Amino acid sequence: MAVIEVVVGDITGEDVDAIVTAANESLLGGGGVDGAVHRAAGPRLAQAGGAIGPCAPGDAMATAAFDLDPPVRHIIHTVGPIWEDGDQGEADVLASCYRRSLRVADELGARTVAFPAIATGVYGFPADLAARIAAATIAATPTDVERIRLVAFDEATAIHLRSALATVC
Ligand code: APR
Repeated sequence: MAVIEVVVGDITGEDVDAIVTAANESLLGGGGVDGAVHRAAGPRLAQAGGAIGPCAPGDAMATAAFDLDPPVRHIIHTVGPIWEDGDQGEADVLASCYRRSLRVADELGARTVAFPAIATGVYGFPADLAARIAAATIAATPTDVERIRLVAFDEATAIHLRSALATVC
């Protein structure tokens, strides 16, 4: 069972084997956390993403980390659901983002992984529900990853994540 911790900060500063970014289907980069990761990794990240994309919502694909390496060796690009009304399968797609990202991390041999609060920004997924889905999915997914860091960009998100983790751990 991986150690799961919640931190507040910029995911591009994380000292982990793999950083997960909340991408769009093109994998060419965008705003939010994806913009920060692309700025930190440099222009080669968009080239690599464009070469393997598109990535379907709920799926996850890996590239090198380019200018972030070291310490980060891999970027795992996952595409969250765009929140509509909660009845369009959004929860299942978000759960799949966490599940598939851990599967890709295992394929890479990554032992430490940092996740942002996928889909809770531009895609509008309610942060409290997203936190519960993230915690439940990670706790229920067998993985060789030893340390999982849930990186909140603000304290409010961190509170949701800590509260959700307390119910599953
Ligand atoms: N480090 C950690 N978390 C961050 C950072 C950062 N540097 N920047 C933003 N965040 C947080 C946001 O505050 C939010 O909680 O990441 C979470 C996800 O928000 P978005 O980045 O907007 O991602 P998402 O809601 O999944 O929307 C994805 O936005 O940027 C575009 O190309 C991206 O089209 C895609 C869409």
